Amino acid sequence: MPSVRVCPLQEDLPFGARVSGVTHETLGDEAVRRQIREAFEDRGLIVFEDIEPSGQMHLALSAVIGPLKDHPVPSVERVNQDAMPGVIDMQYNPEDGGVVEVDGQRLASWIPWHFDHCYNNELNRAGVLRALTIPPEGGLTRFVDGIELYKALSPGLRQRIEDRDILYTLNLAYADMRFGRPRHLQDISFRPGLTEVLAQAKRQPRAVHPAVWTRASGEKVLHVSPWMSAGIEGQEDAEGDRLLEAVCQEIIAKANAYSHAWKPTDMLIWDNWRVLHSVSGADPRYPRRMQRTTISGDYGLGYFENNGVGDKILEMTV
Ligand SMILES: [Fe+2]
Repeated sequence: MPSVRVCPLQEDLPFGARVSGVTHETLGDEAVRRQIREAFEDRGLIVFEDIEPSGQMHLALSAVIGPLKDHPVPSVERVNQDAMPGVIDMQYNPEDGGVVEVDGQRLASWIPWHFDHCYNNELNRAGVLRALTIPPEGGLTRFVDGIELYKALSPGLRQRIEDRDILYTLNLAYADMRFGRPRHLQDISFRPGLTEVLAQAKRQPRAVHPAVWTRASGEKVLHVSPWMSAGIEGQEDAEGDRLLEAVCQEIIAKANAYSHAWKPTDMLIWDNWRVLHSVSGADPRYPRRMQRTTISGDYGLGYFENNGVGDKILEMTV
């Protein structure tokens, strides 16, 4: 009887699971697949260890959670689409650019806290990520649980943000980042494809998502992405901006995060309706290459501003 082992990711964290024993054989067992789905729903993040580091396994594991959502932006590089549709490639190569300076430190692959597809009316259910080229240090992928963030938020702020909706844009330029900015943030060299994405951002309506939503379990989730947020719908004034900034700063300050140091034999899946993620950045001398699948499944609470209709080509690597 094939089986896998599921245990808490870290004793001091109320979310996340660690799963070992996943092979093509164990994945063929419906009881194991159900076990993985239950851990995903319950814990929000799963670290799969000692798993076969292949694209085939990446797709097989993704299929346990749900069907893939395609990623149609032309600037997003795909991996051998005939063989592995739906796998996207995210690379940093020192010769290509993509370096930022954050509070005095030059970093590559740095990404602020966010949830994926916030700039779209439809979210994705999950992402499955693996690392192909790992820098010798740094480049940690960090996760924080929105259920815990909701509980940790100051009661006054919680009450003021609870029923608000947040505006998001596809504007990925750090120069335009408005909320939750580090004290000092500056692009040193632009990452490939950014110009094309920014041009697309100007053609798209802004997307709107609730700051707090309630899961089927009854648990409330604080689900605000500091990156790409543009304001509070209906209150784009100084007071609204101060409120959103205060919430974003508390997210950063109170994030009881899990930080993942990658091995080639790891794969991670996270619940994009619940968990925020970020990347710590790494020394710009070293390349980093990640691949991700995107599992479809929307929570049905997002929309485009003013009943706008967005172009369906709104998927990005972030
Ligand atoms: Fe992301």
